[in-house]
Amino acid sequence: MRIPEQKVEEIYNAVDIVEVVSDYLPLKKRGGNYWALSPFANEKTPSFAVSPAKGIYKDFSTGKGGNAVNFLMEMEGYTYPEALRHLAKKYGIELEEAEESEEEKVGRDKRQSLFIVNEFASKWFHQQLLESEEGRKIGLSYFKERGILQKTIEDFQLGYAPDSWEAFTEAAVAQKHNPEFLTDLGLSGTSEKSGKLYDRFRGRVMFPITNHTGKVVGFGGRVLTSEKQMAKYINSSESAVYNKSQILYGLYHARQHVRNEDQCILTEGYMDTIVLHQNGIQNVVASSGTALTPEQIRLIRRFTKNVLMIYDGDAAGVKAAMRGIDLLLEEGMNAQVLVLPDNHDPDSYIGEHGSAAFREFARAEAKSFLDFKLDNLSQQLDVSDPAQQAELIRAISDTLARLPDMLKRQLFVKNTAERLDISEELMARAVHEAMQSLGKQQRREAQRQQRFDPKPEAEVKPLRAFETLDLARQEKELLRILLNHHDKSFELHPTENLEEVENIRLIDFFMDELEGLPFENTVYENLKEEIFKVYRQNETLQLHQYLSHPDPAITSLTADLLSLAEVPSENWRKRGVMVPPIDHDLSRAVQSAMYHYQRRKVGKLLDELQEKMKVMKEEEEDELFEMFMYLTKMRKEVAEKLGIVVEK
Ligand code: GTP
Ligand code: MN
Repeated sequence: MRIPEQKVEEIYNAVDIVEVVSDYLPLKKRGGNYWALSPFANEKTPSFAVSPAKGIYKDFSTGKGGNAVNFLMEMEGYTYPEALRHLAKKYGIELEEAEESEEEKVGRDKRQSLFIVNEFASKWFHQQLLESEEGRKIGLSYFKERGILQKTIEDFQLGYAPDSWEAFTEAAVAQKHNPEFLTDLGLSGTSEKSGKLYDRFRGRVMFPITNHTGKVVGFGGRVLTSEKQMAKYINSSESAVYNKSQILYGLYHARQHVRNEDQCILTEGYMDTIVLHQNGIQNVVASSGTALTPEQIRLIRRFTKNVLMIYDGDAAGVKAAMRGIDLLLEEGMNAQVLVLPDNHDPDSYIGEHGSAAFREFARAEAKSFLDFKLDNLSQQLDVSDPAQQAELIRAISDTLARLPDMLKRQLFVKNTAERLDISEELMARAVHEAMQSLGKQQRREAQRQQRFDPKPEAEVKPLRAFETLDLARQEKELLRILLNHHDKSFELHPTENLEEVENIRLIDFFMDELEGLPFENTVYENLKEEIFKVYRQNETLQLHQYLSHPDPAITSLTADLLSLAEVPSENWRKRGVMVPPIDHDLSRAVQSAMYHYQRRKVGKLLDELQEKMKVMKEEEEDELFEMFMYLTKMRKEVAEKLGIVVEK
C-alpha cells in the first residue's frame, strides 16, 4: 500500500540518523560528526561518517551516501517503501488505516496473523528440539551428528516437529491461534474423514524459512529416516506470506555478507547454506529445491550483481547450471559456476575435505559462465566436425544473446571468437541471429500466455487512466516510470516497418522521445534533465544521488516517485481501475504513456502557436509557419504510433 505524503513527511521529521545508524554500527563522536568503520568495505580506519546536522551519512571508502532512508536501503536492501515502513515502526508512526480499503485491511491483518502463527510455530519447534526429550534424543542428536553447532541452531532457529499427529496443532490452538491460519500455512492438515486437524510435520527436523527481512514465511522439514517411501523434505504450503519463487533460503542471514563480499553464493539446499555459513562462508543462500526464478535473482540484485552457483556434477546439475546462467544473464547479472566433484554438495564436500579445502577448490575451480559453457560443450561435441562446431557456436550464441548490455555482449563476442578461433564477424552474426530468434520466441510466448490467460481489461485500462491525467500529472508519471525502470530494455517496433524489432533501453527511449519537448513543471524538467546529463556522462544512474540532492525539491520529488513504485496511482485504484505492474508489458505501457503524453503536449504547443500566429508580425511568419508544419507532422506521427500501440 502506498504511504501517504504527509506520513512520509512525518517520518522524515521524526528520524534521527545517528539513532538509525547506531542500530547497525558503533558510532564514535568526533567534532560535530560521528564515525565508524565502513560497513560496505573491509577497513582498519573509520571512513564512514554521519552528520547529525545535515541528517546524512557519507561513506568515503565507497562513495555511498544519503539520508537515513538511503542508509536503510543500502544496508538492508530495502526498497524505498520498505525503508519508510521500517522507520515508521521504529518511531511509532501509525501508517495504515485511513487510505486503506476494507479489503486491504483484511488482507493485511491476515498477513500479519499468518506471520504471528509462523513465528509461534518456529519458536515451538525450536523449543521442542532443545527442551523436549524426544527432540533432544532424535532431532538434536541428528544435527550434532551432522556437525551442526549450537550457535548455528540458534542462528537459523532450527527445530524439531515431534512424531505425533496433534502435538503441534493442539499447542497452537491452546494458544488461541486460528485453525484456519494453521491450515492456510500448511502447518496443519484437515482429516477427510473426521474433519479434525492434524500435524503435517511429524518426526522431522525443521528449517524455518524467512524472507529477507527475517520474518518466518514457511518451513522445510526433513525426515530422519532413509525410508524411501517418505518425501525427504516437505514444505509449508504457499500462502499469502510465502511465495516459493520469491524467497531465497538464508538471504536474511547472508545479505550483509553478500554486500560486503559483493558476491552471492547460490546452493541447492538448506543444509548447504547452513554448513557453509557455519564455516565462515556467509554470503550464501539456497533456492531450496525450486529452479532459480527471475524474482529470486532480482532479490539478489539488490545486494550484488555477482552470483556463484554451486552444483553437483551430475547431468541434472549441469542442466540446472545452464538454465541458471541464462536467467542470471538476462537479469544483467554476472554468473559464475562451481561444479563439485563426485556428486558432492557443499555440505558433504566440507564434511569429507574440510572447509579450507572447499575454499581452495572454489577459488581454483569457479568458472565464468562462458568457460563453463565452452568446457561443457567442447566435451560433448567434436569441434573438428564443422556441423558440431556450428552447433557449439549456436549454443554459445544463444547464451550471449541474453546479455542485455550491448557493450558487454560485444566484448564477450570478441572473447568467444578468439577462443573458438573463428572470426569476430562470424560470431557477431551468430549472436545477432540468436537475438532475433530469442525475440521471436519471447513474443510467441507472450502471445501464447495471452491466449491462455487473457487480460484485456488489465492491459487497456491503465492506458485510459494515463490518458485522463492532466499534463503535469502525465509528466510526473513519466518521471516515475523513468526512475523506476530506467535500466530496463524493451522492444520497439519502428512505425515504418512492423516486422523489424529494436531492443531499446528505457532511458534511451525517453531521451529520444522527449527531445525538444520540455516538461511544463520546472522541478520535473530539472530532474529529468539532470538524469539525462548524468546518464550521458556515466551510462548509469545512481538513484541515491537524487534522494539526497542539494535541491530539496528534487530530493522530495524523487522520494515521492520512488515510493510510488509499487502502486502507480491511488486515484486510479480508488476509481476501481486495476493497474497492473508496468513490468507486465513494459513495451506497451511505456510507449502508450509516452505517446499519450506527446499527443497532449503537441496539442498544447499547437494551440499556443495558433494564438501567437493570430498576432504575428511579418518577420516572424516564416519561423512560425515552419514550427506549425513541424508540429502538425509530429501530431500525425504520434497519432499513428499511438494507434499501433493501443491496437497491438
Ligand atoms: P541433506 O540430504 O540433508 O544434505 O539435504 P540436501 O539439502 O543436501 O538435500 P538434496 O540435495 O537432496 O536437495 C536439495 C534441496 O532440494 C533440499 O534442501 C530441499 O530444499 C529440496 N528437496 C530435496 N528433496 C525434496 C523433497 O522430497 N521434497 C521437497 N519439497 N523438496 C526437496
Ligand atoms: Mn546435502
